[in-house]
Amino acid sequence: MTRGWTKTDWRAKPRIQMPDYPDAAAVKAVEGQLAKYPPLVFAGEARKLKAALAEAAEGRAFLLQGGDCAESFSEFSADNIRDTFRVLLQMAIVLTYGAKVPVVKVGRMAGQFAKPRSAPTEVINGMELPSYRGDIINGFDPSPEARIPDPQRMLQAYTQAAASLNLLRAFSTGGFADIHRVHSWTLGFCEQDKAERYRDISNRISDALDFMSAAGVNGSTSHNLSTVDFYTSHEALLLEYEEALCRIDSITGQPVAGSGHMIWIGDRTRQIDGAHVEFCRGVLNPIGLKCGPSTTVEDLKVLMAKLNPQNEAGRLTLIARFGAGKVGEHLPRLIRAVREEGAKVTWCCDPMHGNTIKAASGYKTRPFDSVLREVREFFSIHKAEGSIPGGVHFEMTGQDVTECTGGLRAVTDEDLSNRYHTACDPRLNASQSLELAFLVAEELTTMREAARRVAL
Ligand code: PEP
Ligand code: CO
Repeated sequence: MTRGWTKTDWRAKPRIQMPDYPDAAAVKAVEGQLAKYPPLVFAGEARKLKAALAEAAEGRAFLLQGGDCAESFSEFSADNIRDTFRVLLQMAIVLTYGAKVPVVKVGRMAGQFAKPRSAPTEVINGMELPSYRGDIINGFDPSPEARIPDPQRMLQAYTQAAASLNLLRAFSTGGFADIHRVHSWTLGFCEQDKAERYRDISNRISDALDFMSAAGVNGSTSHNLSTVDFYTSHEALLLEYEEALCRIDSITGQPVAGSGHMIWIGDRTRQIDGAHVEFCRGVLNPIGLKCGPSTTVEDLKVLMAKLNPQNEAGRLTLIARFGAGKVGEHLPRLIRAVREEGAKVTWCCDPMHGNTIKAASGYKTRPFDSVLREVREFFSIHKAEGSIPGGVHFEMTGQDVTECTGGLRAVTDEDLSNRYHTACDPRLNASQSLELAFLVAEELTTMREAARRVAL
């Protein structure tokens, strides 16, 4: 991809948000070990995702990216993986109905372990401690010992990611993902109180499936109804881990990040001359770039040139995360910068990270209505600018947690303490995630119908 690039070049660049390991020899030993392990994903898969994201850039597909803010070692279980996967599939079917195009399914899973933090230390129970940086780096427990960065954690993260991917691959093709089965769970959701408004869409999906079955198209005749392509993604923050899993694609000779299908650069680590951009520019995977309110037009132009010098479709996904009420101030200037450069990008909306607030109880939360509002603003600005909203990015889980407020089973500020399990940012629970998919599907339907009226 990038001539003259090597996977260690990032080491000569300014690095931020990465740990200072106390024992350099221990880090080296772990890196050596990881470098010998098999990659978690393969270049052909990353290329296939890139092709799918290229379709999303043109409005012929729609990206759904979602999962934990931070995966953790303690919450790792087959049930948790299954439940998040299941909700993502339910959301994908609903969004497919709304968008009338294939939904590209990408989990924040099997590698989402490292977290950038707003401050190097945090105060817990009156004690000032080094910040928790994700299970791949240090421990969540509020003690000075747990907070020491430990390179052995990279090995545990690798093992957990490998086992997660193994399960996800089995679920994707082994019958679990059958469209009729997944939709039957959604019908169950729509039966609950206050969900009447979503019954119309889910009944229409049932009708479409019944019609196809009657016409002889079902899971046994069509591969597409019984299996799914599912991809993994995470923030490429811990570059020692990323470098150790970087491999050379035997077909093209290009470097590929073997840690996940898609990797992204966070809003805090997108410095044009920084270590993270340097690493990501050299691997062939699809790359995400978070764009927050402080993203300047000048920086975006440099970043697009660095990260996608060949202007390859599907290579770069711009993940806008401004906050409800702020999209109008920032997105138009960035859309115009993309247009001025003639750059090919896939636009995706992350309505989570600009909408985090502190509840009166002290918990970090996100109101469901702000999340929805940011998605709506994202769609309407793309419509006004004549550009394409290519997807959505959520922090969510298949569990019945109480971390974000609102939704039809209205989680209130007072409920937050009941089941607040996240290791980092607050996630939508299973019901809120699916409800949001219905509301986004309604938006997509309205958009499509408006476009059709204009075309007539
Ligand atoms: C995240 O996606 O968890 C994250 C930290 O996002 P951002 O870089 O956009 O703040
Ligand atoms: Co987050």
